[in-house]
Amino acid sequence: MDSLKIIGGQPLSGEIPISGAKNSALKLMAACLLTAEPVTLTNMPNLADTRFLSQLLQTLGVEVYWPKGDSECRLNAEKLTSTIAPYEQVRKMRASFNVLGPMLARYGHATVSLPGGCAIGARPVDLHLQAFEAMGADLLVEQGYVKAAAIHGLKGAQIVFPFVSVGATEHAMLAATLAKGETVLENAAREPEIADLADCLISMGAKIEGAGSSTITIQGVDELHGTNHKVMSDRIEAGTYAMAVAAAGGHVTLTNAPVGALSAINHALRNAGVKVEADKDAGTIEIETTGQPLAPVNVDTAPHPGFPTDLQAQFMALMSVARGTSVIRENIFENRFMHAPELSRLGANIAVRGSEAIVTGVEKLKGAPVMATDLRASVSLVIAGLAAQGETTVSRIYHLDRGFERLEEKLSAVGANIRRTSEEDEG
Ligand code: UD1
Repeated sequence: MDSLKIIGGQPLSGEIPISGAKNSALKLMAACLLTAEPVTLTNMPNLADTRFLSQLLQTLGVEVYWPKGDSECRLNAEKLTSTIAPYEQVRKMRASFNVLGPMLARYGHATVSLPGGCAIGARPVDLHLQAFEAMGADLLVEQGYVKAAAIHGLKGAQIVFPFVSVGATEHAMLAATLAKGETVLENAAREPEIADLADCLISMGAKIEGAGSSTITIQGVDELHGTNHKVMSDRIEAGTYAMAVAAAGGHVTLTNAPVGALSAINHALRNAGVKVEADKDAGTIEIETTGQPLAPVNVDTAPHPGFPTDLQAQFMALMSVARGTSVIRENIFENRFMHAPELSRLGANIAVRGSEAIVTGVEKLKGAPVMATDLRASVSLVIAGLAAQGETTVSRIYHLDRGFERLEEKLSAVGANIRRTSEEDEG
């Protein structure tokens, strides 16, 4: 198993290119199932998660041309050989569940394993299933699988989500593109990845209005065609590197950045005393520290445009070295503070009470061996390691490989002392 060794205390300077967004790419890949024509995605991030989904799509009969390391991926779902997504594949990555809606919409049937829980909470898919039922699908949940059928096709429906869910909004939107008549999604999630998915679907011939707002209207069409779409840049990756620079100190320009999608994050960083210069036209964000201690900032995670839950762990690492006490409240997932005890191993002072973490900044963190527990938690340990004195070893970094492309390469290029070691290297 690989680990990362970090010697902290080096200021960062230079440029970090931001990759395509994982959370967008996964839904865009699922969209290829809606058409018999090829879909080409550019700015694709090479990650364990996108590769898992590529394997699942191939199991279903999709032809995938995506050379290793390439940022262009061609998907052709002309003929599916199966509409069954097996447990062994879906359990590896939750977003795989999103193949259900497109197959159901195009073929009238699909059988997809339930994704199961994950380290950050139960994460049910009841809202996804309620949306398909509203669109006239018959659903049977049996032996861990959802068997869905809509023999005469899906029908447009009025769907009011009881609370905001990114996955359910995207999944319902995918399916509604091929349903008969109009579908209205109320209380829809407004994450930028939803607008990105809608843009791609519109370029395939779908009729969608309002994506990015809380009401999305979709007029179903008989069929969709192929397209060429550039995956939006990853706002979570950009926010993560911005926080790494803020924690380690220095002056870094993020390039290919999704500038418009980062307001809540830029706001929190500015309140902490970090200089943030965003240039929308150039797609760049400059992050610069002032040499003064960081100010404590309270954040509450919330659906977009609020502060994203996927940056909560990273912000906690940053607040661990602020001067003063901040309160970080997690409102989206019930079990997303597993990084707190690991950060404490580096000397952070964090008290968790229910959905609140009270972080009292310390002057210096000190390197230690720590263990990654989930994707975003593991990168928070990297941020803390960059800010800490001495050596930090982060083990179980397969979590990181799920969502951060060439992390150690990008950080080394701006002066971080970070390297990957595998067990063989350790002898
Ligand atoms: C997506 C992102 C994830 C991010 C999350 C919240 C992807 C691949 N993942 O996850 O990185 O952390 O949005 O911004 O895009 N819920 C239900 N029933 C459902 C669906 C969701 O109860 O049917 C609950 C979840 O347990 C959670 C909340 O709703 O408490 C939000 O989940 P949701 O927005 O659906 O997250 P994901 O789409 O899974």
